[in-house]
Parts: sequence; structure tokens; C-alpha cells
Amino acid sequence: MADTGNNDAFVAFERVQKSYDGETLVVKDLNLTMPKGEFLTMLGPSGSGKTTCLMMLAGFETATHGEIKLDGVSINNIPPHKRGIGMVFQNYALFPHMTIAENLSFPLEVRKIGRSDREAKVRRALEMVEMGGFGGRRPAQLSGGQQQRVALARALVFEPELVLMDEPLGALDKQLREKMQFEITHLAHELGITTVYVTHDQTEALTMSDRVAVFNDGKIQQIAPPDELYESPQNSFVAQFIGENNTMEGTVKEIKDGLAVVQLDDGGLIDAKPVNVEKAGDRTLISIRPERVEFNCDRLRPGAHTLKAEVAEFIYMGDIFRTRLKVAGRDDFIIKTRNAPDQRRLQPGEQIEIGWLPEDCRALDAP
Ligand SMILES: Nc1ncnc2c1ncn2[C@@H]1O[C@H](COP(=O)(O)OP(=O)(O)O)[C@@H](O)[C@H]1O
Ligand SMILES: [Mg+2]
Repeated sequence: MADTGNNDAFVAFERVQKSYDGETLVVKDLNLTMPKGEFLTMLGPSGSGKTTCLMMLAGFETATHGEIKLDGVSINNIPPHKRGIGMVFQNYALFPHMTIAENLSFPLEVRKIGRSDREAKVRRALEMVEMGGFGGRRPAQLSGGQQQRVALARALVFEPELVLMDEPLGALDKQLREKMQFEITHLAHELGITTVYVTHDQTEALTMSDRVAVFNDGKIQQIAPPDELYESPQNSFVAQFIGENNTMEGTVKEIKDGLAVVQLDDGGLIDAKPVNVEKAGDRTLISIRPERVEFNCDRLRPGAHTLKAEVAEFIYMGDIFRTRLKVAGRDDFIIKTRNAPDQRRLQPGEQIEIGWLPEDCRALDAP
């Protein structure tokens, strides 16, 4: 899925391809436009081409084919330091022999900014990331999280309109990572910066972004706001990469009244929303989110699909209960229920009935 070129685009990839060896395309046909001020995340497994796309945008790699535009102007032949792009990478280390203030001053010196202006900008950038008192220290005297904030300040100090971040929080522990996720999005929105953020962490992508581009195999599989990506995945890769799923394979028997009637391989017929199946005979992967499955089936309206199940495992997780079920010959069917006062805790071995609404069940392409 690709979006079409448009004139308001601040960043545009047009039919971009990249090959390192002249044979395999690691970026196959990238079409992507971003309006000014957008926070877009490229999400995907390792090797899917995210870093390559970022490197082409930054100017450290050239596109084999196609065009990259910034504010409507092709930047294919503009060197990295003239693109006015701020960058934060996981391994884009601070200069160890310079103080924090000198590290921040460096990109300003490169841009020939005068001394007093430099000092004011460095001070402001450090305050922005709450590192105001640390200008005189050296990187080794700071914690990992503090260094990462300085790296962020260094990317922002020359007030770029576009900032690229490649897995910038990968080395941090969970708590600090979550704090920094919030700080980065907050700063980007506050300063009106257009941001391209790369991660393989779906939670990070969903919580930080205006839109997420899901990459696999050198292609954007879907590009959408987080809720749409989660609620309406357009193919089985996206459905399985984002969030948890219960899946069953089968064959479409017919498509009727806007629903696909699917013959499951494990037996039984099921109605599902046809996402990318077209006709009888198509193989399909049925996908249903664990939180859409109900075991108080009388709460569902008539027309719900129900199945018999046996409780295999019940896990109390505080805010939710996670229950693993044996259903239709398999034992990996997961349901999640909110820990509400009226929600019963299930017992292993208990026989129950589960159900869901047909519209919560998707017929996707078979993997
Ligand atoms: N400098 C390079 N030379 C040759 N192949 C590369 C180079 N950089 C990346 N690749 C290959 O390109 C593909 C995409 O890599 P990359 O863009 O780094 O993916 P991601 O960031 O999604 O993990 C991978 O198969 C990788 O091995
Ligand atoms: Mg990468």
C-alpha cells in the first residue's frame, strides 16, 4: 500500500528502490509522503529495509532508482550536511574527548554560527532535555539515558525541520525508554519538527506515532495511524506483526452479504470480514484478537460465532486476565479479559463456550 504524491508533502519518496549489490532490491518500490510536522515511524523486522530508507533520506546512501524530495525539491544530489537534517542513532556516539557543551556546539560551528549565538543555542537545547547543568561534563561521566538525551539535544540544536531517529532508545532499560518515548514525541510536537523514527518495537511505534509504516521485505505493507493499523490490518503480515492474534487456516466457501464463509481446516464453518480474500476457493488466514473473544457469550448479540473450549491455563496479570484455551484440536487460543469486579476467574480444566462477532474476525491472505 502506498500513498500518492502530493504537493503538500514535506518529505517524499517516489518509486524509490535500493540495491547494494546490483542484484537484490532491499527497498523495492517505496512511495511515501509526509506532511510537515508529522511523526512517522518505520516499523518492521530486522532486515526489512528501514535503516536503508533512513540513510537514503539522510544522504549517506544513494537510491538506485526513484527520487527523494524535501519540501518539493529533489535532494538526490545534495550532500548530507547540506540537507539540514538532525539525526539520532543508537550507535551515533557523542565525541568522547569533548564536553557535552562542545558536542552540541559542533554542529553549529560546522554551520558557521557565531560564538554568542552558539552558546545561547547550546544552553537552550540542553535545558530542553533537562540537562542544563551538565554542559561541562564529558560523555563518560553521564549515564546511558543522559547520553541519549544529549544526543537528542545535539540533533535538535541547529533547529532542523526534519529529524531522523534510528532505534535511538534500543540500549536503554524499559522504564527509561518509556520516559524518553514520551519526551521525544512531546518535544517533536512542541517544536513542530517532522520526524522519521525507526524501530522494531511495535509498542514504541504505536505509542509515539501519528502514522506507522509497517515494513517487510523491502516494502511498506501498510501505512496508517496506530489505531487503524491495529483494528484494520490489511494483510496477515501486519495482523501478526502488530499485537496478538488467534489464527486459524481455512478455505473460503463463499462470500455472501459482505461476509466470507470459511471452511476451517480443523473443521467447522466460520463467518469473517473479507479483508484480502476475493472468491470461493481462496486460502485464508482467519485472525481474531484475544480481547475480542468473549466467554460470557450471552453478552454477545445473536449472530455471534460460538465454539466449545477447555481452559488450559489462567494467568492473572493485574489489569487483565490472560487465558489459554484448547479449541478445535489446538491448545494455543488466547483470550484476554479485563480485570473487572464482575469478571470471573476461570479454572484450568473448566469447559466453557467462547464467542465473538463476525466483524471482529478477519479473513486475511494465507501465509
Ligand atoms: N551497507 C550495506 N551493504 C550491503 N547490504 C546491506 C547494507 N546495509 C544493509 N544491507 C542489507 O539490506 C537489507 C536491509 O537492511 P536494513 O536497511 O539495515 O534493514 P533494517 O534497518 O530494517 O534492519 C538487509 O538484508 C541488509 O543485510
Ligand atoms: Mg536498522
